Amino acid sequence: MSPRSVTLLSALLAASSVSAAPAALQKRDMVTAVIDGQTVSWENNWFGAPAPTAAPTAIPSSVAAAASSSAAANNAGGQWITASFAGEVFSWQVNAPTATPAATSAAPAPAQPTSVAAPQPSQAGNTDPSCKDVHIFLSKGWNEPYPGRQGKLAGAICYGLDSCDYEDILYYNAEGSDYCTAVSEGDKNGIDQMTAYANKCPASKLVLTGYSQGANIAGDILGGADICAGLNPGLDPSTSPGNKIGAALIFGDNRHVADQSYNVLNGSSVSSNDPRSPDSLARMNKFAGVLRSYCDQADPVCAAAGPGPFTVDNHLNYFDRYTDDAAGWVKYMLGY
Ligand SMILES: *[C@@H]1O[C@H](CO)[C@@H](O)[C@H](O)[C@H]1NC(C)=O
Repeated sequence: MSPRSVTLLSALLAASSVSAAPAALQKRDMVTAVIDGQTVSWENNWFGAPAPTAAPTAIPSSVAAAASSSAAANNAGGQWITASFAGEVFSWQVNAPTATPAATSAAPAPAQPTSVAAPQPSQAGNTDPSCKDVHIFLSKGWNEPYPGRQGKLAGAICYGLDSCDYEDILYYNAEGSDYCTAVSEGDKNGIDQMTAYANKCPASKLVLTGYSQGANIAGDILGGADICAGLNPGLDPSTSPGNKIGAALIFGDNRHVADQSYNVLNGSSVSSNDPRSPDSLARMNKFAGVLRSYCDQADPVCAAAGPGPFTVDNHLNYFDRYTDDAAGWVKYMLGY
């Protein structure tokens, strides 16, 4: 990846996340706090009223108790918690305590499935009782705690389904991490995790979704390593796990290429500054029938080569604006 795009993406996102730290907490900021020894993260849903200056100290004890008790009840994490405080509704998801990598050089950890639905009997064709009919792989954006903004999408996809859960594609991409080291780690872990799950649960339908830096990874998983190099050739759509993918989604892709059949929103006809290479794009396009790539024309990442005008907010708000649309499309693709 060229230094320019690394700088652009990091600077854009650093500006949007770092500047929020000392200032008032903004709607959509990701917040992480340790409550009773359990690390939880959530997307702030405050709006309309003055936001607290620091979320951890604003958490009332009743909410902390709810987080604590739900963590005890579901040590794998993933449970959604909703609480109202000062007339505003908070919701967040308890993270799996094992989901935080220790270091950039850490060996790939085993997948840690995080459940968002009550355990159900496995469907026909799967013998492992942990298998779900629908299993979602989330590839998070730069510097997001697991599961990141896409946690909301996982919840919406699984909502109303009897047998559905997700797991995070594990990779370290906190502020200061090397862009391509992180992408290569995510590419490898994503393919390994998807292969392992499909081997364990051959009758399950898989969903892959990636956002921002995680969109680069999702695209690499489908099309093979691109600007960040590496040995990954991408999944084969005719063999497992490629042929288990029922739907794949990409949001705010910094490898976005204009005018692909699966592009949606009004950034469809413009490219990013570092469009995916023709070879990798051709391989990714074997998945065109199950793929959607969301790009808003004002997103300074996926639509960077377009006319703008740009606003970082439109790189950050996909899951506020399009979660229902995306989840509805996934359910349709999976036959629900
Ligand atoms: C792109 O679509 C968004 C969402 O519908 C809209 O708010 C925005 O005005 C559109 N931009 C252009 C340039 O049409």
